[in-house]
Amino acid sequence: MVDSWGREINYMRISVTDRCNLRCLYCMPEEGIEGKLNHQGILSLEELAYLTRIAARVGIKKVRLTGGEPLVRRNIEKLIEYIAEIPEIDDIALTTNGIKFKPMADRLKKAGLKRVNFSLDSLQPEKFRYITRGGDIRPVKEGIWEALELGLNPVKINTVVIKGFNDDEIIDFASLAYDYPLHIRFIEFMPVGDLLFWHEDKLIKSREIKEKIEKKFPLTVPDKITGNGPAKYFKIEGGQGSIGFISPMSNHFCAACNRIRLTADGKLRGCLYSKEEVDLWEALKKGASDEELILLFLETINNKPVRHRMDAGWGRENERKMYQIGG
Ligand code: GTP
Ligand code: 5AD
Ligand code: SF4
Repeated sequence: MVDSWGREINYMRISVTDRCNLRCLYCMPEEGIEGKLNHQGILSLEELAYLTRIAARVGIKKVRLTGGEPLVRRNIEKLIEYIAEIPEIDDIALTTNGIKFKPMADRLKKAGLKRVNFSLDSLQPEKFRYITRGGDIRPVKEGIWEALELGLNPVKINTVVIKGFNDDEIIDFASLAYDYPLHIRFIEFMPVGDLLFWHEDKLIKSREIKEKIEKKFPLTVPDKITGNGPAKYFKIEGGQGSIGFISPMSNHFCAACNRIRLTADGKLRGCLYSKEEVDLWEALKKGASDEELILLFLETINNKPVRHRMDAGWGRENERKMYQIGG
C-alpha cells in the first residue's frame, strides 16, 4: 500500500508489551510502570496475530516484535508461529535487550524468527549496570553469541550513543564489527517520552561518530544489509561485520519511511512521534468486520505525516513513551 506521499508501507512494528526487565535511565522510570498505566489490558496473542493478518491484506510484508521487552511476554513464540503462517509475511524480526534470549533462542528460531537486533549501550559490566539500573551484561553477551551460532543472520546491535557515557566505547563497538559478523548500529539519542535523562548536550551526531571510527577503521562503500529500517550501513575494510548509523536527529529519513506501529493495547500509529492513533482494540471489541479493520489500517496509512517535527518539539510532547511504542 502506498501512502499519500508516495511511500510504500510494508513494515509493521508490533510492541507486544510495555513491560521490561530492565530500567534503562533514558527509557523507564526506576519504579517501572506497573500500576502506572491506565489501559485496561493488552491484546491477546491471537488478537495480535489476527490484526497482523489484516495488515498483510493492506501490504505489510515485514514484521518486527518490540516492547518494552518482547521476551517478557508469555508464549511469545506462539505469536511468531502464528505470524510465520501468514503467507504474505516474509520477514519476522525481534528487537530485544537480550537478557532472556539465550534459553529461548532455539524455540524462537523454530517458531519462525528470522533475525534479531540486540540493544546494548555499553560493553563494560559496570557501565551496563549503570545505564540499565542494575542489569547484568553476561546473559546479553551470551545471547548475542547464541544468535550468531544459530545462524539468525544478520545479527545487529543497537547502541544509543550518549556523550559522557559511552562515546569512549565507539571504537570498542566498531572493533566487534571488525572481529565478528556483527552489524553495529549507532543511534542518535532522541528526545522522546518523559525525557528521562535526555539532554541536547548528550547528543552526538552520526557524522562525528563516523569520523571517530574512520580514524581507526576505514569505512568503505555503502553496504546492503537485510533490514527494513532507516540505518545506513558501511563495510568495514577487512572486517566481518558492518557499521550502521541511525540518524533521526541529523537526517530526516522520513521520506523513505515504510512503517506503521501497533501497540500492545491495540492502537495503530502512523509515526513514532505523532499523537494520532487509531483504536483497533475498541473496533475489535465492538465486533468490527475484516473490511472495517482494513479501513482503519488504510486510514492510518493515509494519515501518515510526511515527516516528524522533532525540531518543533514533537518528541518532547509525545504522550506515549518509547517502551509503549516500541522504538
Ligand atoms: P531493521 O529491520 O533490522 O533495519 O530494524 P529497525 O532499525 O527497523 O529496528 P530496530 O528496532 O532495531 O530500531 C533501531 C532504532 O531505530 C530504534 O532506536 C528505533 O527507535 C529507531 N527507529 C526505527 N524506526 C524509526 C522511525 O520510524 N523513526 C525514528 N525516528 N526512529 C526509528
Ligand atoms: N533515543 C534513541 N534510541 C532509543 N531507544 C530507546 N530510547 C531511545 C532514545 N531516546 C532504542 C533502544 C532500542 C530501540 C528499540 O530503541 O535502545 O535499541
Ligand atoms: Fe527496556 Fe529497552 Fe527501555 Fe531499556 S530501552 S528499559 S531494555 S525497553
